[in-house]
Amino acid sequence: MRASKTIRRSRPSGAGADGVRALGVDYAETAISLAQSRYQGTSGLSFQRWNAEGDEWATLPLYDVISSRLSYTLIQEKEKFLKDVRDHLVPGGSFHVMTPHAVRPTPARTPKHWNHSGRNQ
Ligand SMILES: C[S@@+](CC[C@H](N)C(=O)[O-])C[C@H]1O[C@@H](n2cnc3c(N)ncnc32)[C@H](O)[C@@H]1O
Repeated sequence: MRASKTIRRSRPSGAGADGVRALGVDYAETAISLAQSRYQGTSGLSFQRWNAEGDEWATLPLYDVISSRLSYTLIQEKEKFLKDVRDHLVPGGSFHVMTPHAVRPTPARTPKHWNHSGRNQ
């Protein structure tokens, strides 16, 4: 997945040449493995298996930007998710959502049909 990307405000160690550090998360191991191999060697970029609805948000720092690409529609408890996102943005931070469906996937595009290669089956 090139899923939920996050960028920290400060310039921590491990940041890329441009001073930006980004963390990509997904709860699917296949998505993380694919992202790691695709972006291997990209400075400042790391990936972590993480469930936005099951794992502890308190372990995460604050971010300038939180982005959810093609994932928001799969979130079950949207109100809680949006609150968690808000609570992990710096003041004035941004939440970016890219979604083809505002509420839920159509039957033909449910998660089981997603093959983590960037194409729907
Ligand atoms: C349609 S794919 C998009 C993948 C990637 N974001 C991209 O843009 O290529 C949806 C992804 O959301 C992930 N996902 C769904 N619910 C999630 C959750 N609660 N926590 C983390 N990832 C989740 C799925 O594992 C899947 O990889």
